[in-house]
Amino acid sequence: MASFKSLPGFRDFYPEDLIPRTHLFRQWRRAAHAYGFQEYDAPVLESLDLYKAKSGDEIEGQLFNFTDKGDREVALRPEMTPTVCRMVGAKANALKRPIKWFSIAEFFRYERMQKGRGRCFAQFNADIFGEAGPEAEIELVGLLVQCLRGLGLTAEDFYVRLSDRNLWFYYLGALGLDEIQTKDMLAAIDKFERLGEDAFKIYTDAHGELSDEVRTKVLALLAIKSLADLEALVDGLASEDLTARLTDWRQLLDGLTAMGLADFVSVDLGVVRGLAYYTGFVFEAFDRKGDLRALAGGGRYNDLVGKLGGPDLPAVGFAIGDMTMELLLRQRGLLPEILSQPDVYVVVGGSDERLAAFGDIAELRSFGYRVDYPMKDLGFGKQFKNATESGAKLALIYGSDELAKGVVKLRDLAKREEVEIPRDQVTAAVADFLSG
Ligand code: HAM
Repeated sequence: MASFKSLPGFRDFYPEDLIPRTHLFRQWRRAAHAYGFQEYDAPVLESLDLYKAKSGDEIEGQLFNFTDKGDREVALRPEMTPTVCRMVGAKANALKRPIKWFSIAEFFRYERMQKGRGRCFAQFNADIFGEAGPEAEIELVGLLVQCLRGLGLTAEDFYVRLSDRNLWFYYLGALGLDEIQTKDMLAAIDKFERLGEDAFKIYTDAHGELSDEVRTKVLALLAIKSLADLEALVDGLASEDLTARLTDWRQLLDGLTAMGLADFVSVDLGVVRGLAYYTGFVFEAFDRKGDLRALAGGGRYNDLVGKLGGPDLPAVGFAIGDMTMELLLRQRGLLPEILSQPDVYVVVGGSDERLAAFGDIAELRSFGYRVDYPMKDLGFGKQFKNATESGAKLALIYGSDELAKGVVKLRDLAKREEVEIPRDQVTAAVADFLSG
């Protein structure tokens, strides 16, 4: 018999492998609730058309797609954004605005295998619909930072790079580039970090020579690291669009500063995002050391709901991936080893004592305490070893001597201290111990 393995780029999660992911999901859900976002879910399989020409060539080339038995062209979702736009678009008038939604789900992309990238991965997505101003970006960047801080990361571990496709459009327009030239230039800028000036080939192959003036001006905007520098650079161009846009930038940065997030963000026009639908501010989170690929990415996409058949609805959102996040937490020693250790480990003399303990075990569990016990007869030594390894704080000992006296021993596993308690006071004693 051939032995089967999971497919390349797909992961099995044995219980210990699932601990980091469950930890991420819990913290992300907690952060989303703190920010007033509501959770939604959606199918993993969608019509292929949902992604064609909407997500962009890169993702389209990575789709897991096939024809189903009803002759429908379908694809496993590579991202949530088209789906959430489809859902919000269908009920836009009935939904109270601003619509603040989040989800935690799995996605599929046929990617080249590399560190931090897989073919099936999880994302936390958060999006706001119905808010056109930078208030939505402030709320989302705040949530993104909270999602990472909640995991124990600090401004020394990660930062969010803030950029703006509108600003690039106005800037390149002021330099004389038309819309197609601008799009090709943004594709070049997207690759600039990896390829350096060779990235401009994407532009020159399509449009011939790149003038020294444009090259210099593009490099100047790429080098900007603060709003003050940005204002100085844009000042010389006398473009009303650019000047108006800087007001949005000021509002965004003032809001983030007032939220106490200034240390977590930086102005960095090198981020333009590969996905086709972004229309305004875009942002990506990275680890400070730069060892890992992007932790999260997002931006504004004001046209997508309309393009997918819904009404015109401004939208902005982001997604955090689980794989780079887990790598970063591992590097920083921030992953828990155990997530749901028992509160109580019950140690029994034998099968009669186990039977005698069942009533108390059931009662403790019905109150929500996590209780474990050995299903087979084991010596006391082995049971105490198991109790300690399980991470339980206390053991309840049901030996034949104790039961004959109508008591149970309660052992503090950390302090190695024991007290006897009457049988009818077990639940109260456990509650007392665990709350103390
Ligand atoms: P994205 O930049 O394609 O954006 O993905 C967001 C994050 O998902 C990445 O930063 C990365 O952490 C993770 N990710 C992406 N691809 C993979 C992969 N193959 N393996 C592991 N992790 C991966 C989006 O998906 C947008 N839809 C986000 C968004 C939401 N924009 C607006 N709303």
